Amino acid sequence: MKIGFGCDHAAVSLKNTLMEHLKSQGYECVDYGSYDPNVKTNYPEKGLEVAEAIMRGDVDKGVLICGTGVGISLAANKVPGIRAAVCSEPYTAEYTVRHNNANIIAMGARVVGDELAKKIVDAFFSAEFEGGRHAMRVDMITDIEKKYGAAWHE
Ligand code: RB5
Repeated sequence: MKIGFGCDHAAVSLKNTLMEHLKSQGYECVDYGSYDPNVKTNYPEKGLEVAEAIMRGDVDKGVLICGTGVGISLAANKVPGIRAAVCSEPYTAEYTVRHNNANIIAMGARVVGDELAKKIVDAFFSAEFEGGRHAMRVDMITDIEKKYGAAWHE
């Protein structure tokens, strides 16, 4: 699996830590930045960049990190077909794949520590979507995108 990483200035260190962690497990990792904690980066830019990389098929899934994980996930979720979930513990990270078919895990670097973040990404990337009744509900989310005119669906 190919994973795209994006973060703002608040999360450069955690992004690098998680990239190394997942690389050591054999995942292919693509770094979309940011790279320097001393240079302010607007989180919507990185949320959009990784979300669009997934929708183009350049990467399969994403990891997005900002101070809280909220802003960067909100931006990514504006891209049709993206389901970005902010998680602060492994249970939600596992079930957002199993039930919501999430394709991005988002976290807050000011919320979770390095070791907890590793457990969160491990739970996320080892889970599989269960389909069935959950697929019908995920389709309902897609229907909302269509209702509000997402061009990607046309
Ligand atoms: C940056 O200070 C901070 O606002 C950002 O990292 C994030 O927490 C926004 O949701």
